[in-house]
Amino acid sequence: MLNDAAKAERLLKRMTLTEKIGQTVQFGRCEAQEIEWIKQGKIGSLLNVYGAEKINELQRIAVEESRLGIPLLIGDDVIHGFRTIFPIPLGEAASWDVEAMERNARIAAAEAASEGIRWTFAPMVDMTREPRWGRIAEGAGEDVYLANQAAAARVRGFQSPDENGYPTVAACVKHFAGYGWVEGGRDYDTTGMSERVLRETVLPPFYEGIRAGALSVMTAFTDLNGVPASGNKFLIREILKGEWNYPGIVVSDWESVEELIHHGYAEDRKDAACKGFAAGVDMDMHSGVYLEHLERIFQERPDMLPLLDDAVLRILTVKYRLGLFDHPYVDVRKRERVMMIPEHVEQARDSARKSIVLLKNRGKTLPLDLGARKRIGLIGPLADDRHNAMGCWAWKGRKEDVVTVLDAFRSRIAPLAEVTYAKGSEVKQPLERGLEEAVAAARDSDVAVVVVGESEDMTGEHYNRAYIGLPECQERLIRAIKRETGTPVVVVLMSGRPLAVEWVHEHADAVVEAWHPGTQAGNALVDVLIGEYNPSGKLPVTFPRSTGQIPIYYNRKNTGRPHLYEDYVDVSDEPLYPFGYGLSYTTFEYADLRLDAWQIARDGSVNVSANVTNTGERDGEEVVQLYIRDVVGSTTRPVKELKGFRKILLKQGETKRISFTLTPNELGMLDERLQFAVEPGKFLVWIGPNSGEGLQGEFTVMDTKEREGDGLQRH
Ligand code: NOJ
Repeated sequence: MLNDAAKAERLLKRMTLTEKIGQTVQFGRCEAQEIEWIKQGKIGSLLNVYGAEKINELQRIAVEESRLGIPLLIGDDVIHGFRTIFPIPLGEAASWDVEAMERNARIAAAEAASEGIRWTFAPMVDMTREPRWGRIAEGAGEDVYLANQAAAARVRGFQSPDENGYPTVAACVKHFAGYGWVEGGRDYDTTGMSERVLRETVLPPFYEGIRAGALSVMTAFTDLNGVPASGNKFLIREILKGEWNYPGIVVSDWESVEELIHHGYAEDRKDAACKGFAAGVDMDMHSGVYLEHLERIFQERPDMLPLLDDAVLRILTVKYRLGLFDHPYVDVRKRERVMMIPEHVEQARDSARKSIVLLKNRGKTLPLDLGARKRIGLIGPLADDRHNAMGCWAWKGRKEDVVTVLDAFRSRIAPLAEVTYAKGSEVKQPLERGLEEAVAAARDSDVAVVVVGESEDMTGEHYNRAYIGLPECQERLIRAIKRETGTPVVVVLMSGRPLAVEWVHEHADAVVEAWHPGTQAGNALVDVLIGEYNPSGKLPVTFPRSTGQIPIYYNRKNTGRPHLYEDYVDVSDEPLYPFGYGLSYTTFEYADLRLDAWQIARDGSVNVSANVTNTGERDGEEVVQLYIRDVVGSTTRPVKELKGFRKILLKQGETKRISFTLTPNELGMLDERLQFAVEPGKFLVWIGPNSGEGLQGEFTVMDTKEREGDGLQRH
C-alpha cells in the first residue's frame, strides 16, 4: 500500500498547473464565485463555512464536479472548544494539567469534526511577555517549559485518532514566528528580537508542537526584524522546512501575504504572491493573490516550479493523512452523538475549576461558610453574564448553554443560604443606581462575592489594553462596598490576561482568578467557592502591580547591579503575584531537598528531590515546581528557569517525596555561537511552590569532553 506522501505524488502527476495552484488557495467565504472555482479545481481549502449539511454539499461539489475530485480541507478557529467551551488557553495553562489540556483539545476536535471541520487553527503557541496584548489569552503564558508541554498536549489532543483511525482534525501551530513580541502590546505591530531570544524562547513551542505531529503551521502577521513573517525565508525555508525538516503545510494568516504590500515589502499583489510563495507559504488564506498571480509568476519564473510541487505535495499529503479522499463526507447524525454530551460538559467543568487560581485568602474567608442563617451577596457585572464567561474565540459556544455564577448560586447555594444579587456596574461603564444597590446587597450580607473583570471583547485578537487594571467603574464598585460596609469581600476576577489589581489585593479579603472559564463557569466557581473543589491552579504568567512594570516576568536576567535592582522610583520592583503562584485551602510544606550528586559530567544527570507535606486540614493538589539557574555561562542565563513540574494530590497529613531528573536537555543552553551545549560550572536548583519560593541546592557540571551542539534550545 502506498503511504500518504506516495499517494500525493501519484496524484500530483495528473495535475495541471491551474489545479496545482488551486490547492494553494483558501477562501474564508463560499458564495457563487467560490463554488465556480471549486468546480474548476481552483480552491483547495475553505474556512468560515459551517454546518455538516453545508460542508457535505461543498465537498460533494469538489469531489463530484471538479476534474480530479480532490476533497476540500475545511478549517476553523477551534481554539478552546467548539460548542462545549473550555477555559481560555491561558486559563487552561493555569491548571498545569497537561492531560486535561489534551482531553479538552480532543473533545473540541470531536465536536468540530462532527460538523465536517477537519482542520483547526490552533494551538496558538506564541510566547509573550506582554499582557497588554489581547492575544495573551490564547497562549500558555510566559514560560517556555510550560508552553512546550501545552503545545504538544494540545496538538496530540486535536490530532487524536477518530473512529477510522485518522487524526480527528489537523492542528496548526501559530503564528510563526514572533507575533507575541509586538511592540507596546499593540496587535500586528512590529516585532524585533535577537536570534538568541528567537531560538531560546519563541521557537521552542513550535518545535514541540511539530514534534508532536502538528500537520500545519500558520505564519504571523508581523514584521520580524525587518522581514514580515509571511514573506520570511529565514523563518520558513531555512528554519522550519530546512533545519527542522518539517513536512506539513504552511498557511498564511488571513490575507497576510497580501499585507506584505502594507509592510512595504512587496510592490503589489503579484509581488506579494511571489514573495510569500518563494518564502515558503504553501497556502494563501483568503487574499486571493495566489489564485490571481501564481500562474503568471510560474510562466515567468519556471525555476520556481519545484516549489509549487513541494507545496502541493504537502497539502495533498495532509488531505490523505486525514482520510479525506476515503471519507470526504461527515455523517450528519454524528453531531447529536457528540455535541455537548454530558461527558464533555463534565470535562469543561473539571478543567475550569482546575484553572482557577486562589490569589489571596485572609483569615480563611474562603471556602464560604454556608448555613441556614448565612446571607451571601453576589455582585458584579460578570456574575450573570453568559456571553463574556466564554471568553474570546468562542463563537460556536451558545449563551444558553452557559451556567453563570448566579445560576449556580441559585441552584446550589440558595438552598443552603440566603442569596442576594445586584449587578452593581456594567463591565465598562457605571450602571444607574448600581452602586447603591450593590452596597445595599453587601450590607445585608455576611460576605459579598464580587465578580468583576474583562469582557471577551477586551481580550483576543486586536483587543489590546493600555492599562491592564480593572475598568474604573468596577474598581469604584469594590471601593464603595469596602467603604460603606464592613462586609468581607471576595473578589472573583474573570479575565483574559493578568490584571494589575494592587488595590484589590490590598483591600479584598479573598481574591480568585477565574479567567474566562467557559460553558461551566458558574459550576466551576461554586465548586471552588464552597470548597467542593480545593483550588489547585497556579499562575502561568506574572501579575504586575502596575502596567508600567511591563514587561515583568520571572525568568529575567540578572543585572550588573543586582543590589540596586529597584526599577522605578514610584513602583516596587516586585510583581503583585509571581509566576507559578497560587494558594490552596490547605497548606503545603517543602522539606529535605536532596541531590544524588554534587558533581556531574557534561552528559550526566542529577536527581533532585524534596518532601512535600500537606500540613493543613483537607486534601489538596499541589503543583510542585523545579527551577534551575546556570550561574556562569559563555552567555548570561536567567535568574531562574522552570525545568520541571508535577501536579500531585496529597491527603491531609500526607507526605510524598517528589523527584526530578535533570539531564543535558534541561541543563543545556545556547552558547555564544547559538549551539546547544551543557557548559561546566555551578548550577543552583530549587524545588518549590512558585517561582518566588523554594528549597535551594546546588551542584556542579564538571569540565569533561565537549558535546556536539545544534541550534535549538531544549527545555
Ligand atoms: C486571524 C488570526 O490571526 C488567526 O489566528 C486566525 O486563525 C485567522 N484570522 C482565521 O480566522
